[in-house]
Amino acid sequence: MEHTPNTKPVSEIRGILDSRALPCEEFSALWEAVFLPQELKDRLLSQAILNFTLRGRLDRATVPLHGVMVLVGPPGTGKTSIARGLASRVAECVEAEQSFRYIEVEPHALASAALGRSQQAVKHLLGAVVAEQADAGPLIVLLDEVETLAADRSRMSMEANPIDVHRATDAVLAQVDHLAARYPNLLFLATSNFPEAIDAAFLSRADIVETLPLPDAEGCARILSDTINALALHYPAVAGLMDHPEFAEACHLCQGLDGRRIRKVVVSACATSKQVALDPGSLSASDLLAAVHRLRQNGGLQTAAMPTQVLQELLS
Ligand SMILES: Nc1ncnc2c1ncn2[C@@H]1O[C@H](COP(=O)(O)OP(=O)(O)OP(=O)(O)O)[C@@H](O)[C@H]1O
Ligand SMILES: [Mg+2]
Repeated sequence: MEHTPNTKPVSEIRGILDSRALPCEEFSALWEAVFLPQELKDRLLSQAILNFTLRGRLDRATVPLHGVMVLVGPPGTGKTSIARGLASRVAECVEAEQSFRYIEVEPHALASAALGRSQQAVKHLLGAVVAEQADAGPLIVLLDEVETLAADRSRMSMEANPIDVHRATDAVLAQVDHLAARYPNLLFLATSNFPEAIDAAFLSRADIVETLPLPDAEGCARILSDTINALALHYPAVAGLMDHPEFAEACHLCQGLDGRRIRKVVVSACATSKQVALDPGSLSASDLLAAVHRLRQNGGLQTAAMPTQVLQELLS
């Protein structure tokens, strides 16, 4: 099906959350800030590079590569961050005549398109907008929470307009096939914390499916230290708490928590008392340890009375 070309800037198109040139500093910093086993990071980067060096040279009948990488794992394990970071790192590594571009699709905007319209919305977005961007040069597309877009057709309940969702999944599969054949310089990075809900035919098209694990002991210590160091940029005194034995204990107790929660522990510790909230520089290792204990006991999170800018930096 032919589509009329878009006249709107891509960032203003419904279903597009972000559009930018790659590499970019913000995304490259994310690659560094998510601590994962080195071999996993190496594998992800190598697979993504291969997409641009090898995929276009191979006969698809023999080696059916689709230019789709899927990252799965529990919430807060860094899937979205590492996908953005990966996009930027690939652009740094691969030499191309045109510069790399990045777009991020917002599946919810497509799935919630007016009743019966998601199929058309998906076709338009992938078949026209993505194709047009891919025509212009190497392109990396993030499909965050892909289960919304490529929902498992075999699990559909009959309540929530299943025909439309069914057709939307069909449209995603058809478009991925079409784009894979036509654009060797296109890479989809898809994420999901609910892989059981992704359609099997979509997963079968993935060139790689990687599970991001919860941080191990070393990962917990690195995440906690990294977050304290970010706080120390504003309140230098807090750096000293990392020399305390209670800090090591707090790191140890963070095992089993995801990276997002571990970063939030620091904020939560700053909410221990009004005094620390007013002066986060007075945060101690025992405040931190107490915050980890609280988190483990009730599974809840505390919010801290901390300047918004600092809070955003810690949790971004
Ligand atoms: N392994 C990790 N190392 C360092 N930081 C991490 C790690 N995992 C998660 N984080 C931090 O947790 C926050 C949330 O990460 P992100 O949004 O990428 O997770 P996600 O897996 O996409 O979560 P969700 O499934 O809820 O969408 C970010 O600030 C990220 O830096
Ligand atoms: Mg995410």
